Amino acid sequence: MCGIVGYIGKQEKKEILINGLKELEYRGYDSAGIAVLSDGELTTFKSVGRICNLENKCGDFVSNGFGLGIAHTRWATHGKPTEANAHPQMATFSNVVHNGIIENYQEIKQSLEKKGHSFLSQTDTEVIVRLFEENLKDTKSPLTAFEKTIASLKGAYAILLITKLAPDRIFYAKSGSPLIIGKGETGIFFASSDAPLIGYAQKVCYLEDGAVGYMDMECFEMLADIKMLEQNKVYAQKEGFRYFMEKEIYEQHKVLLETMMGRVSEEGIFLESLAPDFFDGITEITICACGTSYHAGMSAKYLLERLAKIKTQVVIASEFRYAGSVMRPSELFIAISQSGETADTLEALKLAKKNSLKTLAICNIDNSSIVRESDGVILTRAGIEKGVASTKAFATQVMVLWILSVYIAHQKGLLDENALKEQITSMLQATKATEVSPKLHERLKRLSKRYLHGHGFFFIGRDIFYPLALEGALKLKEISYLHAEGYPSGEMKHGPIALADSLLFTLALLPKHLLYDKIKSNVEELSARDATICAISSEDFESADDMIYIKPASDYMEEFFAMMVVLQLLALEIAIKLGNDVDMPRNLAKSVTVE
Ligand code: G6P
Repeated sequence: MCGIVGYIGKQEKKEILINGLKELEYRGYDSAGIAVLSDGELTTFKSVGRICNLENKCGDFVSNGFGLGIAHTRWATHGKPTEANAHPQMATFSNVVHNGIIENYQEIKQSLEKKGHSFLSQTDTEVIVRLFEENLKDTKSPLTAFEKTIASLKGAYAILLITKLAPDRIFYAKSGSPLIIGKGETGIFFASSDAPLIGYAQKVCYLEDGAVGYMDMECFEMLADIKMLEQNKVYAQKEGFRYFMEKEIYEQHKVLLETMMGRVSEEGIFLESLAPDFFDGITEITICACGTSYHAGMSAKYLLERLAKIKTQVVIASEFRYAGSVMRPSELFIAISQSGETADTLEALKLAKKNSLKTLAICNIDNSSIVRESDGVILTRAGIEKGVASTKAFATQVMVLWILSVYIAHQKGLLDENALKEQITSMLQATKATEVSPKLHERLKRLSKRYLHGHGFFFIGRDIFYPLALEGALKLKEISYLHAEGYPSGEMKHGPIALADSLLFTLALLPKHLLYDKIKSNVEELSARDATICAISSEDFESADDMIYIKPASDYMEEFFAMMVVLQLLALEIAIKLGNDVDMPRNLAKSVTVE
């Protein structure tokens, strides 16, 4: 994910900027750059790949004396990871770095092109710096030109801009993407998260949405709500959350927007990483994965069959490898993996290739083994996931698979324009449903106390809520070490209901928009046998011992994503209450590279 660093002061600027970028490395990126303005000279260095490449590029460049610098790690969205697309983006005498997306950049670009600007990159960011210089033609004031530029932008952004016309200040703007300004003994610092500021800045201001202005050596104290910065690096990387897993649950809303970026828009669904004829001749799909990724695959089966009407089977990689499965030439093999290195999934993929199947990887890590082995790839863009129990990776996998289902359905002519629009609206609403409300989190914290003991948990749901139930049970098992099972609610009466008593905790997924009455009857059967029922729904359910309300939704996918967050947070809170290390659960590894 993209990162920003900035500096104003007398220290060696390159060093401060590069050290700051290194603190952001863990977020994942594919190119980086810095720009330094000192002694009237504006110098820019950019490189693809690791920050050490950028360091090599900078060579022995130094900038002693007063000056400014901005720096960026880019995680490609608009345009490939090339040097031209890396930030800072330049115009004639100004440079800009930007996190987020400028939604109306095409419009701005076209109008600037008409005025004679030629663009050197494929990024949305370049329009900012070119529009700024264009606006300067009508005003002598860089601040006015900058404010006018920002007022024209739609979308989410954190922006730093420097220009030779104002060599003592950095212009900044923030809306929807984080940006912090800090002050320390050696100058003024900027960053998109705390980590680069630690050790440099003692006082900080977390800018609010709508903040636009400039900062020089003098005006820091005029900012509202200045705070002291906690000087602890691990704390900073967790951005104030107790565990990485918690932070990653909270991040889901943001990363899902990244997953959709450039793929889902008002005009339709685009999968630019796949050739338009990629699915030609495919009549069925086999999805293969392990763990949480397998649950994402199971969810996709419902979407692919319901929307794209394509026969889909989902297999566990370690099972598939030795099952002597029949593979047909018209079958597409989809491997899902967060890490891209899971041994069983990788070997299953190789087996499918050996049997001449076309292959597609859905993966979070570019250039991983699974990505390199596959014919096609769709990256999930969840950013680095540190918690061993996967959360945001799952959310983005389901989103990618949903996008894929709609894409194939549309290609096959199964969705008219209205139905396509409905799906797109639903995706945006589902993303919104993953925003964690403090009220919900507080409720789950309190409720978790009641669910620490008992002789087992059943997570039950139907249809696509069945794999979600499996995932809810897996989350709980992984970090709380309590026994939990996911079950299709209609199956309970065929055996598991024998376990029902008050110490059997049942987490019932009751979506209003999918088979509500059917699930309700199944839960009532359990309630009648004294099982303790915790229902997750937007609707009241009289037979429940506890209710966890989700916000009323317009369709079942919105409910799916809202309930996903509930299950993740509940597992987290139960595990914390039990005193477990949530980020490093016993016996588990994040990436399983052995069979
Ligand atoms: C390990 C992890 C799980 C993960 C599974 C598959 O077991 O602990 O969280 O779901 O591997 O990993 P992958 O990287 O292939 O998605």
